[in-house]
Amino acid sequence: MLERMIDLARDAMNRAYAPYSGFQVGAVVRGANGGLFAGCNVENAAYPQGCCAEAAAVAAMVLAGENRIAEVLVMGRGEQLVSPCGGCRQRIREFADDSAPVHICGEEGLRKTLTLGELLPLSFGPGHLK
Ligand code: THU
Repeated sequence: MLERMIDLARDAMNRAYAPYSGFQVGAVVRGANGGLFAGCNVENAAYPQGCCAEAAAVAAMVLAGENRIAEVLVMGRGEQLVSPCGGCRQRIREFADDSAPVHICGEEGLRKTLTLGELLPLSFGPGHLK
């Protein structure tokens, strides 16, 4: 499953529209029912309107009728770990438990796996509003 997610993320990353930063990102979320949903970053000449790869993957998942995330994978190039930005950690949190693995990958494959709880401790989530 991880290899399949890596392949999907690589394809998504290569399709990213990132003419301003030059930094392409691919993301894949695995829904609780096993579906895989990919996304890429899509930048915009009005910079703040750009969209992260994780946000696109979450949107694809919701569109497919899934609302629980079991696992996340993010892929970017460069030497540093490309982990989800703060806003995307919160977007993932909406649909995932603290224990959900977040795999950080380079084009060559897996670099590090963390849990969502490690990336976003003491988070605010839907449960707070119940
Ligand atoms: N980006 C993502 O898509 N996901 C991340 O986790 C980090 C950053 C995108 C946003 C922007 O298009 C580019 O990478 C540079 O910040």
